[in-house]
Amino acid sequence: MDIQVKSGRIGAEMQGTMVVGLFEEDRLEEGSSPVLDPALQRYLRSVLLCGDFKGKKNRLAVLYPSGAAAPARVVLVGLGAQEKFTPDTGRQAAGVAARKLALFGVKDFFSTVHGLDLGRFAPEWCAQATVEGAMLGGYSFNLYKSDPGTAVRLDTLTLMVSQRIGITTLRAGAETGRMAAEATILARDLSNTPGNDLTPSGLADMAAKMAKKNHLRCTVLTKNAIEKEGMGGLLAVSRGSEEPPRFIVLEYGEPAEKRDTLVFVGKGVTFDSGGVSIKPAERMEEMKHDMSGAAAVIGGLQAIAGTKPDVHVVGLIPATENLPSGSALKPGDVIRTLSGKTVEVINTDAEGRLILADALTYAKRFNPVGVVDLATLTGACVVALGHAASGMMGNDPALMDAVRTAGETAGDRVWPLPVWEEHHELIDSHIADVKNTGGRWGGALTAGAFLEKFVDYPWVHLDIAGTAWIEKDGAYCPKGATGAGVRLLVELTRRWRKS
Ligand code: BES
Ligand code: MN
Ligand code: ZN
Repeated sequence: MDIQVKSGRIGAEMQGTMVVGLFEEDRLEEGSSPVLDPALQRYLRSVLLCGDFKGKKNRLAVLYPSGAAAPARVVLVGLGAQEKFTPDTGRQAAGVAARKLALFGVKDFFSTVHGLDLGRFAPEWCAQATVEGAMLGGYSFNLYKSDPGTAVRLDTLTLMVSQRIGITTLRAGAETGRMAAEATILARDLSNTPGNDLTPSGLADMAAKMAKKNHLRCTVLTKNAIEKEGMGGLLAVSRGSEEPPRFIVLEYGEPAEKRDTLVFVGKGVTFDSGGVSIKPAERMEEMKHDMSGAAAVIGGLQAIAGTKPDVHVVGLIPATENLPSGSALKPGDVIRTLSGKTVEVINTDAEGRLILADALTYAKRFNPVGVVDLATLTGACVVALGHAASGMMGNDPALMDAVRTAGETAGDRVWPLPVWEEHHELIDSHIADVKNTGGRWGGALTAGAFLEKFVDYPWVHLDIAGTAWIEKDGAYCPKGATGAGVRLLVELTRRWRKS
């Protein structure tokens, strides 16, 4: 995937494929657009006068201007009302255009940088969002199709801008966008891969492969080492499966006196059947993506290896299957976690928190200034927030603020949920230190309370159960895995302590 940023006018040669973003307000009067070639602009003005294309958000018109010397195609994409525009509007517009073009089998195109001429958002942000949308919009998962159809991957995207000044900044933004999108695609691929092909050891192999390619350190603890460590939560969940567990440690950079350490923890349940507290059959197949937190961490670290922020980053992934069998964990069992705390297991389907407890304890040895865990943890979070935002809980307002801003900027939104004393009380156990479920109500919050018992550092928990997987095609994501969390982690590290 090659991304270019060039100064000049789009359509000057009137050939190839050109994506042009237009606002509802755009009339394309003589001289009003600095980036459109005057002849193309005149033609588009006459198209607008027909009134069929009104610039409505994510609407498309595909045009084949006559009289062009070489084959030429113009895709108009609506950016909506100027006043409502955000970089994510640009990401969406680029996404729907790219999706259309992928179906046509188009591998190279020119595009305007959506929102750039408004002057309301940093130019590098507009470039980054346009690149992300264009790369992610054409995504499809066809690894298992004998005939992948016409879907193609983008080869070259050329962003056209009118001014020469600031082109370096635009190129930097485009490059960050390329790295973030590639990492999001990796995360989507991992989450979409079925459980028979992505086992805990398979996930560890993918993490190690990514690390090697990007010069990151990677250590994988096998079952023996996990036993020696005393990770009772991870071992308990994996007991029902023939597949041995893994504990994956990824590392970017190193600790230094003037450098902070951040730890990202990702839930890596490669298939969640619920265990003995088995789930209903309907839509159980989707639980192959219960390792989306792990995918976000692996993708996040891949991008971070490229964006090179001045911070030490550790990724921790407890990986296991959750299956019922004669050796499986049972309701009523009491287990001892790495922290020494005991847990009474009420429901074996609340397995994510058991393996995260060990990872959160393990995180302490890195002396982190902040820990962010990402997990497809509760159906209750999907009920609360739907697919529009990940649920955010935590114990440190400053870190929560940083995470929220990063998510907002990256189009990878999170929304705060509370964890109060009342939620802690709901998980008191009569016979152990804590129990693993808190009853029917406020399920996302009692899960948050459970995790909070294992941290003693600034910490944020992101419940991505609703955002990691979508049931309908989105503007820059076909139905299935979204790669949620990757862009947030990239943005969080990029701006860490700089502002
Ligand atoms: N992996 C699921 C949560 C989930 C549900 C993720 C839907 C994505 C979509 C998790 O392990 C789980 O089963 N949680 C239970 C917890 C309950 C038993 C307290 C749930 O939400 O029902
Ligand atoms: Mn479960
Ligand atoms: Zn689960």
